[in-house]
Amino acid sequence: MLTSTRELLETARRNIYAIGAFNIYNLEGVRAVVQAAEAYQSPAILQIHPSSLKYGGSPLVSLCLEAANAAKVPMSVHLDHSTSAAAIQFALDAGMNSVMADGSHLPYDGNMQFTRQMTELAHRYGAVVEAEIGRISGTEDGLSVAEKEAKMTDPIQAGEFVRITKVDALAVTIGNVHGEYKTEPRLDFDRLIKIRQRVGEDVLLVLHGASGLPATLISKSIELGVCKFNVNTEVRQAYMKTLRLEDCVADQSDLVPCMETVVEAMQAIVMEKMQLFGSARQAHLHQTPYAQMLTDRQSQQRSKLIGF
Ligand code: 13P
Repeated sequence: MLTSTRELLETARRNIYAIGAFNIYNLEGVRAVVQAAEAYQSPAILQIHPSSLKYGGSPLVSLCLEAANAAKVPMSVHLDHSTSAAAIQFALDAGMNSVMADGSHLPYDGNMQFTRQMTELAHRYGAVVEAEIGRISGTEDGLSVAEKEAKMTDPIQAGEFVRITKVDALAVTIGNVHGEYKTEPRLDFDRLIKIRQRVGEDVLLVLHGASGLPATLISKSIELGVCKFNVNTEVRQAYMKTLRLEDCVADQSDLVPCMETVVEAMQAIVMEKMQLFGSARQAHLHQTPYAQMLTDRQSQQRSKLIGF
């Protein structure tokens, strides 16, 4: 059942759990997330990174939307980390439920301007916008403590940023990194508390880089208001590792058994995350069919694009 990202995140927040947003690249990724979500009666977000969007285009978006719609649990489709107004426009026209307008590479003022413009645009489609201040790095290696802190979200700036941009969700940088944690992950929860105080109660808080985060850090983050976790690395690694296994490549006469094996491997990771995020068995709390909320403009654009 295709549902709005807002409904997913607000319901999760109210009931103190979080929604997993899983980066998918193809049919196998989509099947892994949908099957995990249905097996666990969990809501979930199918998340497309701009590089996958560039590669997969509207067929990939259509696949995600159709799969989310056909799923027996609430799901939405989200554009991850987009620095491009054109890609955001494309995603919105294609009917995606939410976008991340990522201006975190820009100076603060530029980030604010880009995010404000993208938020105005997305709100015309009824879509949720996520933005980022501070900068989530790929790795912390080689950075001094001061350098790491400089990349973290400043609570005072966060308050001003959400007030001016009117963004719905904020991805915070509190020690989380994309990719593998090279040292034991540590999150700055005092900073998270201050961010919440500054941004107010209505803003949805998001944590990227959830691969490798232990249960204790995840549950504390949820307790402090995080309602969306982004997961890519662990699922992608399960895919790639399984592809290299002998039993995956042994039968070269048919690809389907290999595809099923990679789906199983990814599904196991996704299910583990749903347990950790507390979203397992919560599908019944989410009840809003998204079809009722599509704007006319979005419906028209979507039917044009679906005919690829
Ligand atoms: P990981 O690759 O660390 O799981 O992070 C994913 C992410 O944050 C995508 O935006």
